[in-house]
Amino acid sequence: PHFAIAIDGPAASGKSTVARRLAEKLGLIMINTGAMYRAIAWASIQHGIDASDTEGVIAMLDRIDLRCGVRDRGSIILVDGVDAGDALREDAVNSRVSAIAAIPEVRRLLVEKQRDYLELGSLVMEGRDIGSVVFPDTPYKLYVDASEEVRLARRSAEGLADVVSQRDKEDSSRKTSPLVVAEGATVIDSSEMTIEEVVDEAMSILKS
Ligand code: CDP
Repeated sequence: PHFAIAIDGPAASGKSTVARRLAEKLGLIMINTGAMYRAIAWASIQHGIDASDTEGVIAMLDRIDLRCGVRDRGSIILVDGVDAGDALREDAVNSRVSAIAAIPEVRRLLVEKQRDYLELGSLVMEGRDIGSVVFPDTPYKLYVDASEEVRLARRSAEGLADVVSQRDKEDSSRKTSPLVVAEGATVIDSSEMTIEEVVDEAMSILKS
């Protein structure tokens, strides 16, 4: 049977890098769920829907063709046949994605697609609610954290403008599936660690 390794944590905590390295090391597929929420946020911009127009976003869900697949062992999202690529990380998406992700109907749709991925094989999945909601029964749960200062520095080192602190506030305070340390998850504080150290720590936690 296929298994899931759940990796959650706040914005720019390094969870994507750790998830990617773990997937490579273990020969698993790697699913980035943030890209799925970003794809819905991107689609709402294309459709000219205001981020605060919850009903409009919900109506849009029925009109778009959302395909979630795997390419080169990583997740890929197509909205009406289009892979938005780098546009998913643009400012316009950053500034509205948390509001979009707070809509229960959006989460219900995406969580279902996230669970479907397990049919394709064992995987590493990263996000905010993977250990708490998507795969609560998996024994493999990590929560990668880092101080706010370090996370802001990491994101700007990537050369990307981002509203890290604002997203964290919204993601932690929403009613549906807020960012939490899932029951049974092990927290790794990566503030003072290199990527290699975090990956080694993650491997030893998963083996124990
Ligand atoms: O930029 P970073 O990698 O930290 O964020 P991301 O993983 O791309 O996620 C972007 C946004 O999607 C988050 O700020 C959340 O609002 C939302 N998200 C979520 O609600 N649940 C998930 N499982 C993953 C992302």
